Amino acid sequence: MTAIVQHGYGGVEVVSIGTAAVPVAGPAEVRVRVAAVSPDSGTVHLMTGDPLVVRAVIGLRTPRQPIIGLAFAGVVESVGAQVEGFVVGDRVAGTAPAAFAEYVVAKPAKLARIPDTVSMTDAASLPVSAGTALQAVRDSARVQPGQSVLIIGAGGGVGSFMTQLAAAAGARVTGVASAAKSEFVRSLGAERVIDYRVTPNPADWGLFDVIIDAADGRALHVLRQALAERGTLVIVGADQSGGPLLRGADRQLRAMMLDPWARHRLTAVVQRENCADLATLLDMLAQGTLRAAIDDVAPLDGALALIDRLAHQQVSGKAVIRVSDER
Ligand SMILES: NC(=O)c1ccc[n+]([C@@H]2O[C@H](COP(=O)([O-])OP(=O)(O)OC[C@H]3O[C@@H](n4cnc5c(N)ncnc54)[C@H](OP(=O)(O)O)[C@@H]3O)[C@@H](O)[C@H]2O)c1
Repeated sequence: MTAIVQHGYGGVEVVSIGTAAVPVAGPAEVRVRVAAVSPDSGTVHLMTGDPLVVRAVIGLRTPRQPIIGLAFAGVVESVGAQVEGFVVGDRVAGTAPAAFAEYVVAKPAKLARIPDTVSMTDAASLPVSAGTALQAVRDSARVQPGQSVLIIGAGGGVGSFMTQLAAAAGARVTGVASAAKSEFVRSLGAERVIDYRVTPNPADWGLFDVIIDAADGRALHVLRQALAERGTLVIVGADQSGGPLLRGADRQLRAMMLDPWARHRLTAVVQRENCADLATLLDMLAQGTLRAAIDDVAPLDGALALIDRLAHQQVSGKAVIRVSDER
């Protein structure tokens, strides 16, 4: 089968379109014929091997699993004997290692059925980025109607979903993004957009009940200058922050350690992929209360250019790679 494979760590030059054996599903797994996949910043972290802790987990010199990717949508092609709840022909979205290929093997707990009215392209954009956004807005920030919420990195994959989810929860949303993504962020429901290059100091942004940072990477005490009394700061991540070993995880750990002594609530998101959240998000797409804000859809032979755009933060919202013509 055709697959996107990685040989070493670095820029997009370490990735190529290659071939691999069709994976075999175990008795508790399903095999899915992949229609669409969606890269995210995690794909880029694994490609670059940055932070270094990634390499300790997936392979020191080169990844042990050569096929990249996690988020996919497709059609169930075979079902293991112990699997309940899925049958051959089901349209599903989910996460599984080695997803960027014509076939992927997945566990039922990481899959959800796609409603008939939702396209494979839209469904593929959800599992990682929208899943993280839902857990950030609903579980970590616990956004309430009427609250003022600041989303930093609102023009990115996670941020585009967080902006919509916070607005849908009844919050007044301000997004932080580059000027190029300002109109896009407004279209997602932000009342106001701050260009971090024009107004770089968080003390000048106003005061917010909730701040969710998926991009800025500044020290917690700097971001807290924009936090109202008893406000909540949620750290999702930031690619430029921290040292080479941990990057954004460094601030997540600090937030959780400092929380018991701080007057603000300080917390972090560590996404847990699960079928219930994915089903919630797919249902929201079907109901029209959430949209997959997709900037670019590339065929398989355009995948590397698209991943390169993502690595350079040039994508507004999400990008999707079409693996087959399945709708
Ligand atoms: N904790 C978790 O479980 C979890 C899960 C998923 C992702 N993450 C992390 O969350 C972060 C965002 O992920 P993503 O997939 O959304 O990445 P992404 O799609 O690359 O989006 C990041 C966005 O941040 C913007 N940005 C860069 N510097 C900024 C700044 N100083 N202020 C405001 N915006 C800025 C970029 O565009 P512009 O500069 O053009 O605005 C880009 O749109 C990454 O660090 C990722 O590792 C964590």
